[in-house]
Amino acid sequence: MFYKLNDNIIFRKYNKFGLITDNSEYGYRLLNDQQNIIGEKYLSESGAVMLNTIRRIPRNIDDIVKELLNIFEGISFKDLKVDVMEFFDLLVDYGYLSKGSSVEECNSIKLVNFEHLNCENNFEDFSIDEIDKKYLLKSIHIDVATVCNEKCIHCYIPHNCKTKTIDTNLFLKILKEARDMNVIHVSLSGGEPLLYKDINYVLEKCKELDFSVNVLSNLTLLTDETIAIMKDNKLLSVQTSIYSMNNKVHDWITKKEGSLEKTITGLLKLHKEGIPVQISCPIMHQNKDCFIDIIRWARSYNISVAVEPLIFASYDNLRENIKNRLTEEELDLVLDQYLSEGYAEMMYEKAQDQMKLTPESPICSVGQDSLCISVDGEIFPCAGWQSNILGNIKSNSLKDIWEHSEKLNALRSIKRSQFLQCVSCKDREYCTVCMMRNYNEDINKNIFKINRLQCKMTKMMHNKVETILKGIPAIKS
Ligand SMILES: C[S@@+](CC[C@H](N)C(=O)[O-])C[C@H]1O[C@@H](n2cnc3c(N)ncnc32)[C@H](O)[C@@H]1O
Ligand code: SF4
Ligand code: SF4
Repeated sequence: MFYKLNDNIIFRKYNKFGLITDNSEYGYRLLNDQQNIIGEKYLSESGAVMLNTIRRIPRNIDDIVKELLNIFEGISFKDLKVDVMEFFDLLVDYGYLSKGSSVEECNSIKLVNFEHLNCENNFEDFSIDEIDKKYLLKSIHIDVATVCNEKCIHCYIPHNCKTKTIDTNLFLKILKEARDMNVIHVSLSGGEPLLYKDINYVLEKCKELDFSVNVLSNLTLLTDETIAIMKDNKLLSVQTSIYSMNNKVHDWITKKEGSLEKTITGLLKLHKEGIPVQISCPIMHQNKDCFIDIIRWARSYNISVAVEPLIFASYDNLRENIKNRLTEEELDLVLDQYLSEGYAEMMYEKAQDQMKLTPESPICSVGQDSLCISVDGEIFPCAGWQSNILGNIKSNSLKDIWEHSEKLNALRSIKRSQFLQCVSCKDREYCTVCMMRNYNEDINKNIFKINRLQCKMTKMMHNKVETILKGIPAIKS
């Protein structure tokens, strides 16, 4: 019998446990993605040792057991083989592994729909000490370029900071340290990452080191060579930005004539090659009347659109870019349009998840499982918070900063209960309180100072979703 790790699955072995996950936890998905969302599972120490023998190409079970006999003592080949196969078969049932009586059969098994899988809750999370699971660095975002060939009016990166690309040796150092820490996912962003001369080389390196990868790009400079490299990594997906299907509006926002045409061409090329893509669409005065066309157009290609109705201030605290932000009246109309496209249910489900949070829950994901790194090696907490530097990977290791940065430890220990006005807010499950937004926008960089529009928008969203889904009359905001 042969076993292999499925193409969309990532496994990491830690000292005392293992973690197996499908890439949908990290990558972008098409609207009609039929692939099974399996989620992540923690594995016991012995399970992790067994799984560590599995590769992306089929391996014979006898070879695997022979290797494991060097680690597990006092057990016969026959008994160990029974144990290992029982464990692997569970993972096959769940969709993490494939098996076959020959290499060809093992390779030919395609992932099937969830209902065909024999996985009736017969797989339990192994009991791992919560302390071990806490603060695992799973995802890093690297700005490989601050330079950009567009000059978007809303961009959170101040235009005068858009001058650099990353040194490739520094990138490789980051990647190595991240892999040593068992990081699962890398986002390559900027600025415009396709302006980085070694982008193809580093994409190949990411694949070699078995990282899940997201590339955030305006795609105007996409080449066939980059597409081929992207296609070669089954764990890679791409986000691009479209602000309007009308080139006058889009190009006015990006300040680059011809940019919409190039972005759409790039996007459709990636889509044709089967590379998962997503569109990001911040909404502003300029595109409030036409953003809905993007959602409708994208739906015809099964591409999802992440809209952002409230753009945030640039990290230089000057707030110049947010003069393009929607007013309260515009927000009201925009939310109506957005929710009428079938998003009310999604917002409701998200709110149900948020209801599980307690006053003791962390305020957001800052310091929980992700970090960002600038072109100069500076570490900062999240995209948009480049001005809050926690350390530099040139002088300290990623591990050291992740575990010992006083600033990061302070941020990760902030609880929801510390946002006093939020504790008893009846709209809180519809809200994403964001310390970066508060910091960038407040003149005193106060992370607790919530913008008034944030609360207004949340209240509107809550009322509108309830009205649509439950027939509950909306309360006038
Ligand atoms: C900073 S860009 C980097 C990648 C690439 N240059 C692009 O535009 O897609 C990443 C995303 O952030 C969005 N973005 C930029 N400034 C923003 C802001 N102030 N508020 C919300 N999203 C913003 C962009 O529209 C884009 O979708
Ligand atoms: S949003 Fe992206 S493309 Fe636009 S200026 Fe910012 S980094 Fe450049
Ligand atoms: S709506 Fe305002 S008060 Fe309510 S949770 Fe959000 S930020 Fe806090």
